[in-house]
Amino acid sequence: MAEPKKDARREPILEVRNLVKHFPLTQGILFKKQVGAVKAVDGISFELYQGETLGIVGESGCGKSTVAKLLMNLERATSGEVFYKGQDITKLSGRALKAVRRNIQMVFQDPYTSLNPRMTVGDIIGKVQELLDVVGLNPEYVNRYPHQFSGGQRQRIGIARGLALNPEIIICDEPVSALDVSVQAQVINLMEKLQDEFNLSYLFIAHDLSIVRHISDRVGVMYLGKMAEIGTDEQIYDHPTHPYTQALLSAVPVPDPDAREGRERIILTGDVPSPANPPSGCRFRTRCWKAQDKCAEELPLLAIPERFAGSDSLAAHESACHFAEEKDVVGAA
Ligand SMILES: Nc1ncnc2c1ncn2[C@@H]1O[C@H](COP(=O)(O)OP(=O)(O)OP(=O)(O)O)[C@@H](O)[C@H]1O
Ligand SMILES: [Mg+2]
Repeated sequence: MAEPKKDARREPILEVRNLVKHFPLTQGILFKKQVGAVKAVDGISFELYQGETLGIVGESGCGKSTVAKLLMNLERATSGEVFYKGQDITKLSGRALKAVRRNIQMVFQDPYTSLNPRMTVGDIIGKVQELLDVVGLNPEYVNRYPHQFSGGQRQRIGIARGLALNPEIIICDEPVSALDVSVQAQVINLMEKLQDEFNLSYLFIAHDLSIVRHISDRVGVMYLGKMAEIGTDEQIYDHPTHPYTQALLSAVPVPDPDAREGRERIILTGDVPSPANPPSGCRFRTRCWKAQDKCAEELPLLAIPERFAGSDSLAAHESACHFAEEKDVVGAA
């Protein structure tokens, strides 16, 4: 389990406010007509604190990578704000954007395609020898090309490239999903070591819930372009309040038989609805066993349930469910 970072200052380094990204859906080849929009990210707010790791989980297509790109302004937001030290990144362009981007770097999922095959490692990273050493690669490799490295080594190169400009924030979009399980742990350990050394803040996107728990201080659960629940890893994993989080977690095998007791497996029925035509009210209601009329009529807002108010001053446990006041149905008792 990730220990709470003792020195994590409770200062947000990124503040995301009501972030929206709609991709227009068009028809026609010559005269394109907009016929709708894919609501990839549909009003998301959260903070990333200095020195912490915020994990983001959720099924394929829920908008995780789009959030990552919006945070760096690689994709233009439809609306909403992303404040980095008081500056709204979504409104920046040109030089001002470039200056901010130095501080926010990205490590991509696939170390096989995200490195330019025609550049040597030295060209890719910049100030090399030292950084190769920092990420545990032999500095003599500086004139080699990406194909001369293994997947784990390539991801170390990707991380070294991310570090080259001394960033404060690293956005990791599935950084270890393409790697063998044995190599995943090495890369994760390296990332944790670097975080301590350089006081980095990580936004860590992944499918694998156990990896996310291992590395994250807090975790956000996304569903269809919205944040369903957010809290510390303990709050999310041991006391999930949103039925979607409960369903996601119930699918994770629990090795400890004692912890397994009393946990029921929740099988979600139906497919994830299309983000071009999401359900009214709560996005999850079409697959939720608790859904009532209210859920179709009223969008539940992400908020701290009464029963958690004041119980923990360090971290808020927020849930976007009309029934978040009810006691957990699954999770550790
Ligand atoms: N450039 C684009 N144009 C149109 N639609 C897009 C574009 N990029 C993403 N989308 C759509 O937005 C939604 C969210 O995509 P996104 O890549 O953010 O999901 P994700 O959570 O990262 O999924 P995965 O876990 O598979 O990586 C999907 O429906 C996707 O098809
Ligand atoms: Mg993605």
